[in-house]
Parts: sequence; structure tokens; C-alpha cells
Amino acid sequence: MIELTVNFVFKFLHILGLMLGAAAGFGAMVVARQARRAGAPSPDLAALRSVFSTMALTGITLLWLSGLGLWMFRYDFVDLGAAYSLKLLTALVLLGVILAIDRINARAAKTGTPPPAWLPKLGMTTPVLTLVAMALGVWVFI
Ligand code: HEM
Repeated sequence: MIELTVNFVFKFLHILGLMLGAAAGFGAMVVARQARRAGAPSPDLAALRSVFSTMALTGITLLWLSGLGLWMFRYDFVDLGAAYSLKLLTALVLLGVILAIDRINARAAKTGTPPPAWLPKLGMTTPVLTLVAMALGVWVFI
């Protein structure tokens, strides 16, 4: 019973992390599109950037913590194959990208300057990486 509960909690958190990551990625895409249309984004729209990057950071942190928990409790850290290793690599790249975006957005918000023009392009990689990791996750555990 305790094992079932632990697995349930980790899996629940894994899916929650996935939901937060996806929401943040797609939300940031909408913000980038609106900002491009408006030329200079309104302060409310600009403030959404750091909201979504914090949401993405929360999501990927949850994915890593719950993922490590699931791997340990359900699979004793055994090698789950090439697709699983690729999924972990994708998740690692995603963590690096999100950390970089979060730091740049926080610095821009603090100094009141707009983030660099290439940042939305980097941001566009996050929904793609999330979808790749999700597809690999579904494939491995089908
Ligand atoms: C962007 C990051 C990630 C995404 C999108 C993702 C997505 C998924 C998905 C869709 C599943 C399949 C659930 C199912 O079919 O039952 C899954 C399962 C799993 N993931 Fe992840 N994952 C990510 C990161 C991680 C990380 C970093 C780890 C480990 C360190 C991990 C470990 C696992 C494990 C062990 C399972 C199997 C759970 C089970 O046996 O039911 N995941 N993940």
C-alpha cells in the first residue's frame, strides 16, 4: 500500500510538472507573438515573461525530482535503454535552456531593460524539447 501511494504521488507530480512546463512554453510563445505584434509590449505583457519562466522552472524541477523518484522506486536506477537515455538528455538540455531564460528575464526585469532580441527564439525550443521528451517517455513506457 505504501509503495502504491509513493508511486502515485511521484507519477502525479511528474504529470503536474509536465502540465506546468507545457503551459509555460505555450504561454511564452503567445507572449512573444503579442510582443512582436505590438512593437513595444505593455508593462503587463512584459511582466508575463518572468511569470512563465518561473512556471517553466517549477515544471522542469518537478519533472526531475519526480522522475528521479520514479526511476529509483520503480526501476532501481537500472538502464532503461537508449530512448530513455535520450529522454534524460533532452530533459537536461531543457533544464539548461529554462535556467538561462529565467536568469536573463530576471536580470531584464530588475534593470527595466527589454530582454535580448534572440531570447524568444531560444524560448521557442522549450515546447519542442518538451514534446520530444514526452514522446520518448510515452514510447519507453508504452
Ligand atoms: C521534459 C522532461 C520530461 C518529460 C516531458 C517526461 C514525460 C514522461 C512521460 C510522458 C512519461 C510516461 C508516463 C506513462 O506512460 O505512464 C514519463 C514516465 C517516466 N519518466 Fe519522465 N519525463 C521527463 C523527465 C524525466 C526525468 C528527468 C526522469 C528521470 C530522471 C524521468 C523519469 C521517468 C520515469 C522513471 C518514468 C516511468 C514511470 C512509470 O513507470 O510509470 N522523466 N515521463
